[in-house]
Amino acid sequence: TKMWIPENPSDPKDASIQEAARLLNHQEVVAFPTETVYGLGADATNEKAVSGIFEAKGRPSDNPLIVHVSNREQVDLMVNHIPDVAYSLMEAFWPGPLTLIMESNGAAASNVTAGLSTIGIRMPNHPLALALLEATGKPLAAPSANRSGRPSPTKADHVKQDLDGRVAGILDGGTTGVGLESTVLDCTSDVPVILRPGGITKEQLEEVLPHVAIDPALAGSESDKPKSPGMKYTHYAPESPLWLVEGEDDFFIEQLEQLKRDGQRVGVIASHELAGKLDHAPVIRCGSRDQLSEVAVKLYDALREFKRSEVDIILTEAFSEKGVGAAVMNRLRKAAVQVVSED
Ligand code: TXA
Ligand code: MG
Repeated sequence: TKMWIPENPSDPKDASIQEAARLLNHQEVVAFPTETVYGLGADATNEKAVSGIFEAKGRPSDNPLIVHVSNREQVDLMVNHIPDVAYSLMEAFWPGPLTLIMESNGAAASNVTAGLSTIGIRMPNHPLALALLEATGKPLAAPSANRSGRPSPTKADHVKQDLDGRVAGILDGGTTGVGLESTVLDCTSDVPVILRPGGITKEQLEEVLPHVAIDPALAGSESDKPKSPGMKYTHYAPESPLWLVEGEDDFFIEQLEQLKRDGQRVGVIASHELAGKLDHAPVIRCGSRDQLSEVAVKLYDALREFKRSEVDIILTEAFSEKGVGAAVMNRLRKAAVQVVSED
């Protein structure tokens, strides 16, 4: 696997970007940074290229991919029509962490949409991603560049950990800015529906749209959680099982102390407000609970930090669900094998 650090990361003519684009135009897969997380890209119009993504990630083929574009014309080429709401949203939030689901016209390779009649499209707000799209001249299908089930990569090194030897190349653009994936918004119904909370918050969408709905499956995700530890990991899984603790700081401390009395080696992920009250190591501080955008940036790196050989359980606090906190908590609930609540 080739690693490049482009000299001119916003220039489509940069030698590394040109080389990456050449590989993409030869049906290879290449990882690149976006403002959210690293993506694993392939020519969205080429079925063989796209199948390389599923293979490298070990991704189930029934999970559709997001198509990345660098201009509106590429959107026109892939959808039947653009709903009015989608126009307003592109105007307000593109380039940016918002994926719009629209009716596909079949121009994208069929494995991109996993056989669905709809397609998810976004314009990433990252100079290197946009330069690569320009250099390639094609829309790029790109899921997060992690092995299926692992936390999404926010650094080139995370991609290397997961995909070295499995992809043609990795473009290194440093640490990503948002840290969590884009918001996925279904624009095919009268009232747009948030299918995945992400970098653009519901509050931000409501400044542009009169009504925004939330997929009922999101609200129900808590009760779907297996109630005992050690059950099968699903998404964003760290090496050791993650427990999510909902309640006051004193309750968190009680849980931590109980686990330690039981002989468990516990790793903690906490805001610096909580971390300051703990007499414990190891603790990873992931920012202030009043600055959830900071927590978003650090979350996936924190989930990758603890090694199975070092800790038996990872304990993390629950955050407010305001703003980007909705996305932070969505990912933590999915990553957790156990939710421990005070009441
Ligand atoms: O920020 C992001 O969105 C990153 C960067 C690389 O752009 N990409 C990303 O892709 O997170 P991925 O594959 O990890 O997540 C794509 C999500 C999945 O939950 C998938 O089910 C949903 O988008 N999705 C894609 N196409 C869809 C469609 N036609 N209908 C419903 N959901 C769709
Ligand atoms: Mg993903």
